[in-house]
Amino acid sequence: MQPIWLSLLSAFCLRLVFLCRAEEGLEFPNFDGKDRVLDISERNYKKALKRYDLLCLFYHEPVPANKGLQKRFQMTELVLELTAQVLENRDIGFGMVDSQKDAKVARKLGLEEVGSLYVFKDDRVIEFDGELSSDTLVEFLLDVLEDPVEMINNAMELRAFERMEEDIRLIGYFKGEDSYCLCLMRFIHSFNKTPQLHPPPANHNEILACCMFQVAKHLSLKMNEVNFYEPFMEEPAILPGRPLSEMDIVEFVNQHRRATLRKLRAENMFETWEDDMDGIHIVAFAEEEDPDGYEFLEILKDVARDNTNNPELSIVWIDPDDFPLLTTYWEKTFKLDLFRPQIGVVNVTDADSVWLDMSNDEDLPTAEELEDWIEDVLSGRVNTEDDDESADDQEPDSYATEDSSEGQDPDEEDDSED
Ligand SMILES: *[C@@H]1O[C@H](CO)[C@@H](O)[C@H](O)[C@H]1NC(C)=O
Repeated sequence: MQPIWLSLLSAFCLRLVFLCRAEEGLEFPNFDGKDRVLDISERNYKKALKRYDLLCLFYHEPVPANKGLQKRFQMTELVLELTAQVLENRDIGFGMVDSQKDAKVARKLGLEEVGSLYVFKDDRVIEFDGELSSDTLVEFLLDVLEDPVEMINNAMELRAFERMEEDIRLIGYFKGEDSYCLCLMRFIHSFNKTPQLHPPPANHNEILACCMFQVAKHLSLKMNEVNFYEPFMEEPAILPGRPLSEMDIVEFVNQHRRATLRKLRAENMFETWEDDMDGIHIVAFAEEEDPDGYEFLEILKDVARDNTNNPELSIVWIDPDDFPLLTTYWEKTFKLDLFRPQIGVVNVTDADSVWLDMSNDEDLPTAEELEDWIEDVLSGRVNTEDDDESADDQEPDSYATEDSSEGQDPDEEDDSED
């Protein structure tokens, strides 16, 4: 904890120094010391729910006696305070719920997972399962405030829609009257009232859009039809049946939630990571801004498009640029160089991993080579368990394994068996 604190503090101090010299126009917010986060109890929780458009509640363990852990707790509190301060004019309430002291309130509100943040909007509850930092939280909450339905009425809006390839998108073509659109919108809002349906389908990334005739023609959408775009797919799936009931749409989305290629994002990273494939993830690291990373990502998209009908396959793409604080941790844990694109299998129980060796070649693997490797992973031929015995018939040199510790001793590997 200490080093993190120190580095945070020193970054903070540096910033202060710069700020004193800076001209106006760029000013990071500092916590102003004003308490905005409520201590939620039986006495005030109903009032808080009524009072705000959004209520964010952090459900936590009792404040620890240990000094170090207390600091950690205070840091979390500070994240909420700063978020509350930045969003002060947005009618969003913030509160802390103690799992012991406020157990009754927690039960009434349906809070289950200690350490989670719950967002109450109208009658829906959304669990925030992302990185608990003010940046991420502010972005997430502003998204939640926004309407999940957007109208697509012209070529510009259509281009924007087409660029959102990282998201799950639903697009429907209805009469072109607002009333039709509104009824779908209400469906999204009301759906989350039924908490037994899990996970909630209408997450803020999913956009339900209505569109005008020309746009529909361009997308070959028929009247009353709804299309589903999986992330990174060019061709949509058409929801079966017309007209569709709300439940039909919900069911379809829930069934197709897990994309063949999905990007890890700070705002729901834990949710994504917990949705593993029988204990493993296929993980691809690629920096989109880097020429090699970009190229590799294009290959990955091709592979995903070719294999989109394989329900067994889901590749998690991580852009290291999005997670500067985690990069060194990943490099150490997986023994990788993240300045280059990488793809591997990670066991989510112990973070044991195997990576495709791309270091010797100048060229990146082709889509076919990558598909062969993925096939080997899905069939279990490439796995994280038999690192040492992997030198059987499969081209032994093509897979880098990383079981031994940092200072790799060349003799150790060669002599072990034979
Ligand atoms: C992941 O690692 C755990 C613990 O080492 C092991 O028991 C499990 O079999 C592994 N899972 C897979 C799918 O390799």
